[in-house]
Amino acid sequence: MPSPKYLTLLLLAAGLQASAQGRHEYLLDTGWKFTKGDVPNAAAPTFNDAKWQAVRVPHDWAISGPFDGNNDLQSVKIEQNGEKAASLKAGRTGGLPFIGTGWYRRRLSVPQQGVGQRVALLFDGAMSDAHVFINGKEVGFWPYGYNSFYFDITSFLKPAGDNVLAVRLQNQPEASRWYPGAGLYRNVHLLVTDDVHIPVWGTYLTTPTITAELAKVSLKTKVETPSGAFQPLRLVTEIRDAAGQVVATTNTTLAATDGLEFDQNLVVPQPKLWSPETPVLYTASSKLYAGDVLKDTYSTRFGIRSFKFEAGKGFSLNGQPRKFKGVCNHHDLGPLGAAVNVAALRRQLTLLKDLGCDAIRTSHNMPAPELVSLADEMGFMLMCESFDEWKTPKVKNGYSQYFDQWAEKDLTNLVRRDRNHPSVIMWSIGNEVPDQGAPGGNKILKRLQDLVHREDPTRPVTMGMDQFDSDIKNNFASVLDIPGFNYKPHRYAEANGKLPQGFLLGSETASTVSSRGVYKFPAEQVKEKKYDDNQTSSYDLEACSWSQIPDDEFVMQDDLPYVAGEFVWTGFDYLGEPTPYDAKWPSHSSYFGIIDLAGMPKDRYYLYRARWNTTQATLHLLPHWTWPGREGQTTPVYCYTNYPSAELFINGKSQGRQTKSNATNLTRYRLMWPEAKYEPGTLKVVAYDAAGKQVATEEVHTAGKPDHLRLVADPAAFTADGQDLAYVTVRVEDAQGNLCPDAAQEVQFSVKGQGTFHAVANGDATNLESFQKPQMRAFHGQLVALVQASGQAGTVQLTASGKGLKSGQLTLKTTAAPKETAAR
Ligand code: GAL
Repeated sequence: MPSPKYLTLLLLAAGLQASAQGRHEYLLDTGWKFTKGDVPNAAAPTFNDAKWQAVRVPHDWAISGPFDGNNDLQSVKIEQNGEKAASLKAGRTGGLPFIGTGWYRRRLSVPQQGVGQRVALLFDGAMSDAHVFINGKEVGFWPYGYNSFYFDITSFLKPAGDNVLAVRLQNQPEASRWYPGAGLYRNVHLLVTDDVHIPVWGTYLTTPTITAELAKVSLKTKVETPSGAFQPLRLVTEIRDAAGQVVATTNTTLAATDGLEFDQNLVVPQPKLWSPETPVLYTASSKLYAGDVLKDTYSTRFGIRSFKFEAGKGFSLNGQPRKFKGVCNHHDLGPLGAAVNVAALRRQLTLLKDLGCDAIRTSHNMPAPELVSLADEMGFMLMCESFDEWKTPKVKNGYSQYFDQWAEKDLTNLVRRDRNHPSVIMWSIGNEVPDQGAPGGNKILKRLQDLVHREDPTRPVTMGMDQFDSDIKNNFASVLDIPGFNYKPHRYAEANGKLPQGFLLGSETASTVSSRGVYKFPAEQVKEKKYDDNQTSSYDLEACSWSQIPDDEFVMQDDLPYVAGEFVWTGFDYLGEPTPYDAKWPSHSSYFGIIDLAGMPKDRYYLYRARWNTTQATLHLLPHWTWPGREGQTTPVYCYTNYPSAELFINGKSQGRQTKSNATNLTRYRLMWPEAKYEPGTLKVVAYDAAGKQVATEEVHTAGKPDHLRLVADPAAFTADGQDLAYVTVRVEDAQGNLCPDAAQEVQFSVKGQGTFHAVANGDATNLESFQKPQMRAFHGQLVALVQASGQAGTVQLTASGKGLKSGQLTLKTTAAPKETAAR
């Protein structure tokens, strides 16, 4: 019997023997050994890694902690934040142990490899400075941790033997402004093809003409042959619609004059258009023949949509004007760290869909390919970003050290990898790069923009600019396809008056801070406010010196037609950058999220939802109504709703009816009772529609003593694939089922059946408890546990218990049914 460790290798071998022709793609997720620290000779085939840790890739070596303020402790002056002197920033990059060297090793059996075949390794991203070795020899190096890269390893492999793949990674201190993650945190693929084949990212598909009757499809397909020799090659391409019906075919023979690139043109009749609301996808499946011999097969999934940025009008998709209802997100997945997981990404996007969000900026770097595929499938428009630095550094050891040598390669890989995805609407070449104001900055911008146009002439280029005056004065902003401004709503009109484009984008907006469940009194609009408990208030009135509350951006978005939309900083809280507590450990994750680090909506979620989700009603009250000791004191009540007007009652007594009005930025988007006095009991709001009809009500009750734990699963059924996750929200409730909003009990988890405890988070930016241990205290009455399915279908029982509380129990089902996976 083979040991499980080698089962994958044997299956791999079997797969290859079953069909030696064509293409075979394998995920190298199991069979890895890992060690932290540098080890001499670790790449050598004979090296003994028996003592190393067995890990599954994607793997983030630092997320299990422990948190420590000395991890990447940075003494810096953050110039973007207007700081005048350096200070010690302990949580800037998350306080996790990601600095240093790590090694991964794995055996790689490619028994059919030999004459007539090519073997490549594709890394979706490796953090960072990846040196890749096969059988002790270095195959290649890729420094930027966020990018995808690949190497042809054919000549490094033993003819029929066991090979050893080793990867050395190294993270420098002071290299980042947020938590980067560490290790092989994205997938690694082995690609085996004939030596006459379509290379990695070898197709480029565009839809140059789209009418109601037809869409023209142009498909360029590169071919590689031994020593580039021309052969009689033929490419047969079929386009299938979402139901799998063939809607177009073509059969093309490569002419000697074509070089090694097929140029096929097809027509899809009555195309169904892709949009966030209708994410319809087609697939072009190509077969490459040499004579009658099938040499390769290659699928290119795509969507049919058109868009425009127009002077005076802003953005339109498929002829419909719209504004980006976007969020910026860093790549980490909260308690999973940077280790990519499709279930975690899907959950993020499901929450963002409910929010009414339709666009994501992948700040400030290349996204995981799974995110791009999910955005195609679930309907999100993407701004794919590349860099946070060009030549001039923001942090001591950041990308600036690689910029000159690597920027072109990095941009090329980003664009080639993602240019067939309908979700990708624009490319961003940078975020607040200090070169904006530096001599030579314009030249770099032009070079990068031209480079992107070379690889993809169909999409515009933007970037997040923050040096407004010099960007305009020095003609920096005027060169960009789309001028993107960070935090400048008050200057949009001025920018538009001075720039030639006639439209602009809020590339980064708001940066409001709030902690879920925390309310500070008095509720006042303040900047850079700090409290002793390292929390921020959920009245959504607190921002940074450079940033705004949501409403200030909304006004400009609503009043200026040429503003193409906004990308809020941020959709989700992320590890690192705990502004305004950058210099106040133990804060180590952000307060900017509309949704907290555990994936729980903050109040702000409903402020955006009321505006963005136009198909569902939003009626949300804040704060909670359990304030022992505040009796009789002013406790403002806000209502976030898409209804125009509502009446508030405290224990049945009317507090008056409020109607949205243009009197102030706040009254335009919030219904507010600033003078409400707290008395225990019931807070009730009655909403009215524009016709004055009573349409909905919402209540919040004063909670009694914590009584029990209630578990709510999302989703209740998941797939037995060893990877899928169920997110279970745990609520500390009183006997009547009210959330106890200040409960901070320690909750213990145990999991039985076909699943394991995977992680836990409570959204508290100051919490130093491990994400990986099956216990954590509730933060403002709630926390979220992640349960991972085993490979076997069945049931999983999760129990949550806490001192003095009745335990909560939940049975989840895992199903063997093949789950739709994010296609590449
Ligand atoms: C911006 C920057 C982001 C983040 C944000 C916080 O200036 O582009 O990366 O730092 O500030 O408000």
